[in-house]
Amino acid sequence: MNLILLGAPGAGKGTQAEVICNHLNIPAISTGNILREAVKNGTQLGLEAKSFMDSGALVPDEIVIGILKDRIGEDDCQNGFILDGFPRTVPQAKALDEMGVQIDKVIDIEVADEKIMQRLSGRRVCADCGASYHIEYKPSKSEGVCDKCGGETVLRKDDHPDTIKDRLHVYHEQTEPLKDYYQQTGKLVVVQGQEDVADTSALTLKAVEA
Ligand code: AP5
Repeated sequence: MNLILLGAPGAGKGTQAEVICNHLNIPAISTGNILREAVKNGTQLGLEAKSFMDSGALVPDEIVIGILKDRIGEDDCQNGFILDGFPRTVPQAKALDEMGVQIDKVIDIEVADEKIMQRLSGRRVCADCGASYHIEYKPSKSEGVCDKCGGETVLRKDDHPDTIKDRLHVYHEQTEPLKDYYQQTGKLVVVQGQEDVADTSALTLKAVEA
């Protein structure tokens, strides 16, 4: 099954991608994670992407489309995959179509902007392994320390309040039109993501199975 997770920054795409990944045993592909890894490793891609990401802007389509094409060509994607954070613009969605990729469902996780602010400003990520926590909803066992690898948990650069506002603006302007794009294909399923993680996960899995 090939799935797309749509939604604003902080709507819970990464959280739900993990839930579906465990349920269906197919890989979750986060273009954000791929880009952050490149920045961390100081590769050419990372150097090109960093300033866009830090400011809350999107990385140019041609760069991200190239990354995605390479990733879904890997062996572990042959039985399906979950796209978390791609496509984010109509040209990216069209590029996916042109690659001949058949999408089964597009799950749109809806969360109000005010809630997004609260979620992202409270998110902490491990600087070493990238595991994600929330100071209120999903705290690590020991404050500031990753449960998985013992690394330091930090606020993502783009999770500062002013940058969150910019990311939301970019989302409404450039990504939200994808709802119409996929509505027209009959593949869009809306999940209300306002509730706690367990309730949202149950709704997401119901949408996957429907
Ligand atoms: P990316 O990493 O994709 O960031 P994003 O879409 O802004 O998504 P987030 O990771 O911030 O949030 P999420 O929806 O995954 O929420 P999460 O589950 O973590 O992209 C980063 C940047 O990379 C972009 O800004 C752009 O520059 C670039 N980029 C990436 N892809 C690109 C593309 N295709 N084109 C161009 N540029 C691209 O949840 C958030 C927090 O809330 C967590 O702390 C979590 O624990 C908590 N939480 C989640 N669900 C719930 C719940 N139900 N109740 C309470 N708390 C919850």
